[in-house]
Amino acid sequence: FEGPLVDRFGRVHRDLRISLTDKCNLRCTYCMPAEGVPWLAKQNLLTTDEIERVARVLARLGIVETRLTGGEPLLRPDVVDVVRRLARIEGERGPLRVSMTTNGIRLDRLMDDLVDAGLERLNISLDTVRPDRFAELTRRDKIEDVFAGIEAARASGLRPLKLNTVAMRDVNDDEFCDLLRFAKAHDAELRFIEQMPLDAGHIWSRVKMVQGEEILEKLSAEFTLEEVGERGSSPAQLFLVDGGPTTVGVIASVTAPFCGACDRVRLTADGQLRNCLFAREESDLLGLLRAGGSDEDIARMLRQNIEGKRAGHGIDDPGFLQPDRPMSAIGG
Ligand code: GTP
Ligand code: 5AD
Ligand code: SF4
Repeated sequence: FEGPLVDRFGRVHRDLRISLTDKCNLRCTYCMPAEGVPWLAKQNLLTTDEIERVARVLARLGIVETRLTGGEPLLRPDVVDVVRRLARIEGERGPLRVSMTTNGIRLDRLMDDLVDAGLERLNISLDTVRPDRFAELTRRDKIEDVFAGIEAARASGLRPLKLNTVAMRDVNDDEFCDLLRFAKAHDAELRFIEQMPLDAGHIWSRVKMVQGEEILEKLSAEFTLEEVGERGSSPAQLFLVDGGPTTVGVIASVTAPFCGACDRVRLTADGQLRNCLFAREESDLLGLLRAGGSDEDIARMLRQNIEGKRAGHGIDDPGFLQPDRPMSAIGG
């Protein structure tokens, strides 16, 4: 059953995003309601053996990188073990590359173990550098823990270290330059992200959204920006800041979608295969695993799932429906 996972549009899938838990230690207003969401029942979460098994099959189908997400992936008690087991899987181009997107909160304690386990790359979410604003936005007073996490990541030497900022009208659109200054000082690549309709409250508005163009305009007030190179399947358009070496990125998922080059497939924490953030259907891989499915069955389900992938997210289509699952449940 070997051979690449190619969809109807010729897109070859190489990147698997695995959500390790739907839980989070923050309550970002754009992601979750204050009371949280009904968490998935523990018995419905993929076990670490199941994650490893699926990744092994996928490595035979051309997946070369796996990114661990959440909720907050570092809340999974055995996260280091997950990284270690995945990083040992041999794929077409050597061992699977393992990366992670985290809010940074437990990183200062876990960083060394994660590196030792084989973690290659880290992206840390940071929407503001102002403590009062952070507390308001995330409903938790934990910015110092995030700063400690970023410092641990910087000291670990893993590169590139990326910081993710979701650009939000009237929330952080007055501190883009401060954020970039912070990133420069921490030797990190900051990426500004256009907000997508994935909020728990379903109050996203196209009109209110801060667009990539506006982000660049605001940064240009303080920095000179020079566009760099081809972006391939990476979602970010990169710019050299003040002649380099720092770069800043803009992820304009809404106004300049990168769906045409998408190479991702997702596995939710409850073991559902999802071929797009905005997919309308999922395939029940957990059910298949627990019904005793063979590796061939897993591969078949994957191929079928990819076969059904649509050309793009369709946010601008009439009749677009926001997914019922919020970002925390899908996995970022
Ligand atoms: P790199 O491998 O470092 O480029 O990681 P990444 O940018 O793909 O991952 P990350 O988890 O840091 O995601 C950053 C942002 O990219 C997210 O906030 C999303 O807005 C966006 N993003 C990630 N994956 C997808 C996707 O499949 N579709 C769309 N439309 N946006 C995505
Ligand atoms: N639009 C774009 N990015 C989002 N993220 C969370 N919600 C959204 C959204 N609605 C970001 C997080 C994290 C990454 C995985 O996704 O801030 O950096
Ligand atoms: Fe947690 Fe990320 Fe959602 Fe914020 S955006 S509440 S850090 S899962």
